[in-house]
Amino acid sequence: MKKLVALVLALIMVLGVMSFASADDAQKVVGIAMPTKELPRWNSDGAFLVKAFEDAGYKVEITYSDNKEDQQVADIQRLLAEDPALLLITAVNGEALNTVMDEAQEKGVTVIAYDRLILHDAVSYYVSYDNFTVGVLQGQFIEDVLGLKDAGDKTFNMEFTAGDPPDNNAGYFFNGAMSIIKPYIDAGTVKVPSGQTEFDQVATPSWSTDNAMDRAANILGSFYGDGTVLDAWLCSNDSTALGVAQAIGNDYKGDNQIFVTGQDADDLNVQNIYEGKQTMTVYKNLANEVAVTLAVAKAALEGEIDGQALADSFDIDVAYDIESYETTPGHKCPSFLLVPYVITKDNMQLLVDTGLYAWNADNTFVQKVPD
Ligand code: GAL
Repeated sequence: MKKLVALVLALIMVLGVMSFASADDAQKVVGIAMPTKELPRWNSDGAFLVKAFEDAGYKVEITYSDNKEDQQVADIQRLLAEDPALLLITAVNGEALNTVMDEAQEKGVTVIAYDRLILHDAVSYYVSYDNFTVGVLQGQFIEDVLGLKDAGDKTFNMEFTAGDPPDNNAGYFFNGAMSIIKPYIDAGTVKVPSGQTEFDQVATPSWSTDNAMDRAANILGSFYGDGTVLDAWLCSNDSTALGVAQAIGNDYKGDNQIFVTGQDADDLNVQNIYEGKQTMTVYKNLANEVAVTLAVAKAALEGEIDGQALADSFDIDVAYDIESYETTPGHKCPSFLLVPYVITKDNMQLLVDTGLYAWNADNTFVQKVPD
């Protein structure tokens, strides 16, 4: 009888331990919500994120929402049904996810805003590049190449193309660029023949290349058809710069060099920089952004994060910022911000040196993405 009781007790102990162990190190589910496959970079981010989190032992589900807000809500609802421990979200619209963010908060799911902030307090951490600095780098580039600081009474004509209004980053990029260029517009050194200098006037729905091209073609036809010289076109990112470069190629009558900015180092745009159709792009190493996100996620799932210590632990520059971003008025969002830099034809080798880009035999340029 004693033996039987001991046996039963031992059995209960073993089952107890097993259930505790399996509950604890059962594979945690990570839900990843990307905005669209239409824009090259999110295919790369998605591939890097899935590989990094699967290699780290998580079960990963990823969705792409065709840049549609309501579809992204439905996609995140589906991810929540998988009982994820963590959601990584790049919002189509940072203000359109309240229902699913409420649900995530109720369920105690950790939410990290990846690259684009979500305006809801369910967000625990934000990982991105310094978005305002991206714009400042574009503005400073134009300031340098046109020699605006020492322009004297010379004047220059330029136009602007900004991003998708629902994208929380778009305003930061544009305001960063305008923080450098606007003083020259006010001083009369920079003229904008289209007169379009407000964000809403120069925004590009869905960051789409076609939308950017159509608007640029319209401006070139309306304000440059008489031979007016265009000196520069400040575009917030590469997908829009691609459209602007196409319009310039098709519809600009002049033969002077036009300085065109961009962001993301998308393959086709790096090619255009090599061929002189675009002049620069602001590079944001996606593998680094993913590595920082993985570290923040792991730390967050293990409990409290010492943000500054974590930011200092990376061998790349990462700023721990608890001031710049708010999910709701007064509610600061702890952010890990990486540092972007400028790529031109002269330093394109830096892209190859990251190990994430390569030249093809036919002199085309490709980004290497985990398959
Ligand atoms: C932004 C992102 C940029 C650019 C743009 C369009 O949010 O930060 O890198 O890719 O979206 O996808």
